[in-house]
Amino acid sequence: MVTIYIEGKPYQVPEGRNLLEVCLSLGFDIPYFCWHPALGSAGACRQCAVKQFKDENDTRGHIVMACMTSVKEGISISIHDPEAKEFRAANIEWLMANHPHDCPVCDEGGECHLQDMTVMCGHVRRDYRFAKRTHRNQDLGPLIEHEMNRCISCYRCVRFYTDYAGGRDFSVFGAHEHLYFGRFEDGPFESEFSGNLVEICPTGVFTDKILHGHYTRKWDLQTAPSICVLCGAGCNIIPGERYGTLRRIRNRYHPSINGYFLCDRGRFGFEFVNSKRRVRQAVRRLHKDGPLETLLPDQAMEHLSSILSGPGKVIGIGSPRASLEANYALRTLVGAECFCNGIAAEQAGLLALILEILQNGPARSPSIRDMEQSDAVLVLGEDVTQVMPRAALALRQSVRQEPMQELDPLHIPLWQDAGVREAVQDEKGPFFIATPYDSRLDDVATLTYHAAPDDLARLGFAVAHFLDPKASSVEDLSKEERLLAEAIAEDLKAAKRPLVVSGVSQKSPALVRAAANVAFALCNEERKAGLAFLMPEANTMGVAMMGGMDLDVALEQVREGTTEQVFILENDLHQHMEPKKAEAFLTGEQVVVLDYLETETTRRADLLLPTTSFAECTGTLVNYEGRAQRFFQVFEPTGDMLPAHRWLARMVNMTGEDGSDAWGTLDAVMHALAAEIPDFASVLGILPGNDALKGTKVPRQSPRYSGRTSMHADRDVNVPKPPEDPDAPLSFSMEGFQGVPPPALIPRYWAPGWNSVQALNKFQQEIGGSLRGGDPGQRLLEPSALPKRAYFQGVPPAFRPKTEKWCVVPVYHMFGSEHLSMLTPGVAELAPRPCLALNPKDLENLGLAEGAAVLIDRKFSLPVKVLPSLPRGVAGFPVGPAGYLEGKYVTLHSAASEDKDQMGRETHE
Ligand code: SF4
Ligand code: SF4
Ligand code: FES
Repeated sequence: MVTIYIEGKPYQVPEGRNLLEVCLSLGFDIPYFCWHPALGSAGACRQCAVKQFKDENDTRGHIVMACMTSVKEGISISIHDPEAKEFRAANIEWLMANHPHDCPVCDEGGECHLQDMTVMCGHVRRDYRFAKRTHRNQDLGPLIEHEMNRCISCYRCVRFYTDYAGGRDFSVFGAHEHLYFGRFEDGPFESEFSGNLVEICPTGVFTDKILHGHYTRKWDLQTAPSICVLCGAGCNIIPGERYGTLRRIRNRYHPSINGYFLCDRGRFGFEFVNSKRRVRQAVRRLHKDGPLETLLPDQAMEHLSSILSGPGKVIGIGSPRASLEANYALRTLVGAECFCNGIAAEQAGLLALILEILQNGPARSPSIRDMEQSDAVLVLGEDVTQVMPRAALALRQSVRQEPMQELDPLHIPLWQDAGVREAVQDEKGPFFIATPYDSRLDDVATLTYHAAPDDLARLGFAVAHFLDPKASSVEDLSKEERLLAEAIAEDLKAAKRPLVVSGVSQKSPALVRAAANVAFALCNEERKAGLAFLMPEANTMGVAMMGGMDLDVALEQVREGTTEQVFILENDLHQHMEPKKAEAFLTGEQVVVLDYLETETTRRADLLLPTTSFAECTGTLVNYEGRAQRFFQVFEPTGDMLPAHRWLARMVNMTGEDGSDAWGTLDAVMHALAAEIPDFASVLGILPGNDALKGTKVPRQSPRYSGRTSMHADRDVNVPKPPEDPDAPLSFSMEGFQGVPPPALIPRYWAPGWNSVQALNKFQQEIGGSLRGGDPGQRLLEPSALPKRAYFQGVPPAFRPKTEKWCVVPVYHMFGSEHLSMLTPGVAELAPRPCLALNPKDLENLGLAEGAAVLIDRKFSLPVKVLPSLPRGVAGFPVGPAGYLEGKYVTLHSAASEDKDQMGRETHE
């Protein structure tokens, strides 16, 4: 720490940071545009000018850019110096010369950093009287609007999109004041992270097209802290609602997870909440395939009681997309022995293995921030960008870690973005990708290796053996494979923070064991390796920790005929098992389904109960690393929807000793869970401390929220009493707690003079660091202090292509593989057409042309496409839209001579 003087007063600050960061961390207001805490300093906009004095005798001082000035012992600065203020006011007047006067119609208005900074600098009058420079806007696809006239040439967008996110289709064109920030041609952005431009751009050049489609002013949105439910990363989000529809999602900063950025699926894939396919009322079917009858909630409960009082066993099928509380309530209703985790056997087995590895082994599941800080990475089997996109953005940054270690002797501070990039050039740290086919991270990889899952596992086992000869060795390695494994082992061994990334995508236990062996071999007294297993759904890890039988075991019980009723919680069985198996659950027994969306499963329910989406209830999810986090209800549901845990709690009918409803609040369910299942003992750590709220609640509505009377005027001209919320310390009103809320309860970023997302500065302990009051969430998984896990054995034999069978590998796409987000029309528009991928030689041998239809196991019909990186004998099956495909091998037949059905549907029994 060093002492610096601001306006003559001493402050202790960390040495080597830049002045802008330090001043903002101390709570001072300095205007800025081009600096961004995740991107560093560029010195492009000249807005952050302050006066620096050499010593106490220096009365004149000189203007410096705060973002380009390193903090050193004894320096003295003034933010309020008249010359500095004049400089900033003149600068913004120049920046505004070409800016249109369109704030009232600009989508950014009211939440605009440019507006805020203009006001902060006192530039309140426009004296520029000449024609303004104008540009043509581009059509950037269904997710993002473009309005180039609003640009102030700060370069943030291009620095994020190309330098940080690795995009290649967007840049800056022109010179001087005729700069154009756009794509090379009209069309959707290629990057999976393009939506961040909406928050990165300090003005209204890039805005959210989905919000635009049902626009509302930002201060009129009702918001609450939430968690993205579209993959297992657990990114923190702020959804906003108006008039009963969800309008947009913004990033909610979490220093260990998503930081400042989301992926486009998470940002834009929320429209399932507003979908016409929402289930809003309870319905029952009087007999199989009979007509539907709508029920009132009480009638539904009555019907349920009669079902539950019937003979026979009840099986409860849980769900990796439902909250911990809802799954636990179902488990309580049916009993632990009749609870199924809702996951097919092939994946459930892997999850149990992963849990055992993370609980008993020495390696730690890393946060996304840890991934970013890793200095050598091995990816085994996962297409990270498509499965858990935010992790891919972190891995892209990790390749800079090793070269940046060399910068110390050059005395280039890490925040000096241009200097760092100049010094590092194209140098990249060790990053090895071993996957069945090429991935979007290949451009930053040191080496890539594309092979069948068994061969990927063999590579992993070999790497572990070269790291530690005690680990299983691999016979019959080719010379190339041996050299590759040795090279990977050497680089991982030299790293300070090595990381292994794998997951469940390939459904390969060998791959999981190989990844564990590599990580175990890297752990020693001085160093713990990171071992990340990517998870496909928001609560996959949570249900894995809850235990229970898998779907195949549950199906056996149904087939044995001992089960009379099946309760299915927010789980479309067709997403987790083949149609024939799913149907076996849905015929015969009484089927009660609780869900918020119509699916193939809800269509077969005897009784369907409407539940709430993540935006209409509160609950807890456990992400891939084992971190429990709570999402909070954003708005009141319509119709007869109830949170799933509430329906189930009613059925469980828990009464306290005094006869009260013992599960009257969500926290009560959570307490019961923590008491019953040891793995969740520490989950209560997520409950936000309410002491700071002093008996009040945090308002979900901003102080400027308008229309409280008029929006209900068709029913009542009085302002209605806000609904009660027993589950959250947040209120559905503008009134309540007015200070900085505890970090888990921050519903929006706002501070006096800071209306844009940049107000986040005021909520952090230090820029880019923890939130004031600590970071939300609670890790439930930590490596064993005394690791019990020895190296795994069981190296698989080398893969040999078969003549009649094809080894099938899943092909994920961030748009298309996740079914909820596909209900956003813009996301569906960008999803690729489902195809079966084959190596070109294999396609030739089959005598098929690209685009021809092929029958897979005589169950699915898909067009074929060429994927040159795929090994011979391996077929890439699209995850999601085509249906669930089980097993490791499939047969392929030309569909030309067979009956054809709709794409991806079952064509034959
Ligand atoms: S488009 Fe936005 S982010 Fe990009 S240079 Fe212009 S103002 Fe800056
Ligand atoms: S990475 Fe996953 S959790 Fe994060 S925003 Fe994207 S879909 Fe949501
Ligand atoms: S923020 Fe410092 S020059 Fe732009």
